[in-house]
Amino acid sequence: MNLWRQIRPLALRIYYLFADGPRAFEAAENSVADLSSEFSALFFQHSGRVCDKWHHYLPVYDRLFGPFRSASKEGAPIRFLEIGVWRGGSLEIWRKFFGGSAVIHGIDRDESCAALNTSDLPVHIGSQTDQDFLANVVNQMEGLDIVLDDGSHRARDQRKTFDVLFPLLSDGGLYVIEDTHTSYWWSYGGGFRKPGTAIEMAKSLVDGMHSWYHRFPVKRKMWAKTDVNAVHFFDSIIAIEKKRRIPPVRSNRGVDPFGA
Ligand SMILES: C[S@@+](CC[C@H](N)C(=O)[O-])C[C@H]1O[C@@H](n2cnc3c(N)ncnc32)[C@H](O)[C@@H]1O
Repeated sequence: MNLWRQIRPLALRIYYLFADGPRAFEAAENSVADLSSEFSALFFQHSGRVCDKWHHYLPVYDRLFGPFRSASKEGAPIRFLEIGVWRGGSLEIWRKFFGGSAVIHGIDRDESCAALNTSDLPVHIGSQTDQDFLANVVNQMEGLDIVLDDGSHRARDQRKTFDVLFPLLSDGGLYVIEDTHTSYWWSYGGGFRKPGTAIEMAKSLVDGMHSWYHRFPVKRKMWAKTDVNAVHFFDSIIAIEKKRRIPPVRSNRGVDPFGA
């Protein structure tokens, strides 16, 4: 027993070396995502700076961001922050998607991304784990309605960023973490059901959201109980809706057919 305890970390490491990384799967050559999706159409027509996307994300963006897009098209200044700018292509597509009145900023720790900075699509250089930097960016944006974390994809960074930015999100805002398959990859700080990954953090938000009904210890319980309205899991995308909640209320209407 003692010996197992000692060698367990090493055994797990070796196991993860083999289990880590994507399984081989055959991508259909013509697997073009749902072209009726607005984002798909914009993505496949895009000829500006390069942007790299998994096809199955494209309709998910429509579903998640559709209501914000409609509000934005009607002139509401939706504030959208993308973590991970890379070559700047996604920022350009977000501008087309949300329209001219949206406030769209990007963050990247790679200094070469400073060359992509414009007054229309400001790019801030810094790390997604730097609390003061993030708070300063949100200040410049005058608030925050949507976060899309497409940055380092490392478990610890995703968690830290969430802990800083979720409280700064507006009521009714949406927090999205992308490429959450990395939660299973050792090389990204992940592992199967490993505490602390984005997937496990989101599961614990589900527990916290239900903590009106139980007393089990849950991390981030207080926020989740009062501020998390829904947690959506898609393949490699997690979306957390923020909405101030009041204690659940229950009542009934109608006539009891058994006459009680
Ligand atoms: C997957 S790319 C982003 C792709 C881009 N959103 C797109 O769709 O075209 C990830 C980016 O995150 C940046 N990044 C990695 N770690 C970061 C960190 N700690 N803070 C901020 N940006 C980071 C990288 O420099 C890289 O440009």
